[in-house]
Amino acid sequence: MRGHDHFHGPVHQRRCREPQRFTADDRTLADYDALMAELNGHPVAYLHLRGPAPASPGGTPDFDAIARYRRRFDGPLIANHGFDRESGNAVIEAGTADAVSSATHFIANPDLVSRFALGRDLATGDPATYYTGAAGGYVDYPVSGWRDSAAQGVGEAAAARDQSSCS
Ligand SMILES: Cc1cc2nc3c(=O)[nH]c(=O)nc-3n(C[C@H](O)[C@H](O)[C@H](O)COP(=O)(O)O)c2cc1C
Repeated sequence: MRGHDHFHGPVHQRRCREPQRFTADDRTLADYDALMAELNGHPVAYLHLRGPAPASPGGTPDFDAIARYRRRFDGPLIANHGFDRESGNAVIEAGTADAVSSATHFIANPDLVSRFALGRDLATGDPATYYTGAAGGYVDYPVSGWRDSAAQGVGEAAAARDQSSCS
């Protein structure tokens, strides 16, 4: 129903009560534009925005959808959904986002930051292991063999960043 969502009731009431919580669902663009205007009136640390799914698995993320809210939200913006090293760098270099977050790639690549830093290939996760309630498929992917690399110094620095980002 327009103006409602499944979790929080009428949009106008939720805006007043919980300006930091909202999800896409069936909202109209006008609702979101209004929410952005309201967010700008609050001390929001950042906006984490999950865009539409890429048209195909591994496809290019929807930069335009992110850009719409870049124009409307005044604070730091983190873009999410389908980004990899190349598209993540591109959306930041374009000024469309300040940072990019990853979920799927982090599951299969516990050393994702190192792999990005070294330009290493990424492992692919197995969706059949998602949402099972078991640890398998979440905690058993190996780190890449950067210690054998000629770029060991770079790898150690990146690994230190991995460590600090997880603590
Ligand atoms: C296995 C799995 C579990 C997830 N669990 C959550 C969750 O608990 N809460 C949430 O807000 N998003 C969750 N997500 C969604 C991610 O945070 C992210 O928005 C989505 O996967 C798109 O980013 P990506 O393309 O980098 O994976 C999950 C995604 C995956 C793949």
